[in-house]
Amino acid sequence: MLNFGRARTQQRQTRPTSFGGLDYADPKRKSNFAGKFILAAALTALCIFLLKQSPTFSSPSPFSQHEEGVTHVLVTGGAGYIGSHAALRLLKNSYRVTIVDNLSRGNIGAVKVLQELFPEPGRLQFIYADLGDAKAVNKFFSENAFDAVMHFAAVAYVGESTLDPLKYYHNITSNTLVVLESMARHGVDTLIYSSTCATYGEPEKMPITEETPQAPINPYGKAKKMAEDIILDFSKNSDMAVMILRYFNVISSDPEGRLGEAPRPELREHGRISGACFDAARGIIAGLKVKGTDYSTADGTCVRDYIDVNDLVDAHVKALERAQPKKVGIYNVGTGKGRSVKEFVEACKKATSANIKVIYEPRRPGDYAEVYSDPTKIRLELNWTAKYTNLQESLEIAWRWQKSHRGGYASIM
Ligand SMILES: NC(=O)c1ccc[n+]([C@@H]2O[C@H](COP(=O)([O-])OP(=O)(O)OC[C@H]3O[C@@H](n4cnc5c(N)ncnc54)[C@H](O)[C@@H]3O)[C@@H](O)[C@H]2O)c1
Repeated sequence: MLNFGRARTQQRQTRPTSFGGLDYADPKRKSNFAGKFILAAALTALCIFLLKQSPTFSSPSPFSQHEEGVTHVLVTGGAGYIGSHAALRLLKNSYRVTIVDNLSRGNIGAVKVLQELFPEPGRLQFIYADLGDAKAVNKFFSENAFDAVMHFAAVAYVGESTLDPLKYYHNITSNTLVVLESMARHGVDTLIYSSTCATYGEPEKMPITEETPQAPINPYGKAKKMAEDIILDFSKNSDMAVMILRYFNVISSDPEGRLGEAPRPELREHGRISGACFDAARGIIAGLKVKGTDYSTADGTCVRDYIDVNDLVDAHVKALERAQPKKVGIYNVGTGKGRSVKEFVEACKKATSANIKVIYEPRRPGDYAEVYSDPTKIRLELNWTAKYTNLQESLEIAWRWQKSHRGGYASIM
């Protein structure tokens, strides 16, 4: 009753004059309404404020839109050794770059170096994703406007591939299919694919040309060949511009010392000769094991074609510039000159000024005696030739980075 009476009194006292539809409004309800209105307005204002703080509010992300005169390249595996060097070169040449990597083998430190060098908006972004996750891949393709893909991401150790072949078929072959499907779905029509001389196996005739039959002898080479075949079959009925680059043995690093090769310590046993030489020079391992001294080569050790990573990324940029719709280019990327393991070790000793102990062991199964490229095709068609062909100089550059980054990228984080 009391409440009722008070309400009635208040009602009488505050009865409004006719004011539109509120002629008979209950003042308590009116003040509730006003409060809610103010609250809603405040919340809306807050939301707008927060959205405005977000870089995507006022203008859409530059990565999500095609821009005339700007080529946006997706670099898969861009936190890895070759991918990070390629990203650096692309950024230097004014490309827009998105790196995607699951950091299973790469280094976020390499991405940080690149971000510090190119901090301006719209130059470089990093996406943490696994290419085996088709949903995630489709999502970042739908949110970004890529013009081209350089597909480096892979597991890449011959020895490991023989121990865990499924990992290789999954990570290399199946993931390439995922990338290709997303490219097709989202109209990205240029692909530069990282392949390898391991797809040739052990050819009888040297040097290896692009016409040399592919007969890989380990799961790594087979997985890469299958990925190539998928790309080639797809390209027969598509407008896609495709460049397949078959690299030989990659060495060295950025001459300005910003990037280097820093594989995970647990991968050392599967590692490459340059890493093993540097580890021996630093005393991390007791000595350098040279496997096989009775091959039919000049000094009995295996012969390989060592290509400097700076030349390699140069070949990628040239391939990207010359890629043409509906066309496939397949190129060997090597120096055309074979160097024996003994020669390599001597160059490494000089580059590091270390008296590396060499331990000679029997042959390793699956190693072939001699592999080197004929780089004529890439010279004639892409106007590319290896420039960094002094083995010792290439190793000196790599050693400088190794010496100043004893803990790999961890030492600069
Ligand atoms: N290094 C060589 O001598 C050599 C020779 C021939 C071909 N290649 C090819 O070059 C490419 C790059 O090799 P690298 O030496 O820089 O290797 P790397 O291990 O340094 O780099 C590979 C990168 O790919 C990333 N990655 C791997 N699987 C991924 C996945 N599922 N999703 C997202 N990211 C993934 C890794 O984290 C790493 O950052 C590979 O395709 C390799 O097969 C290398």
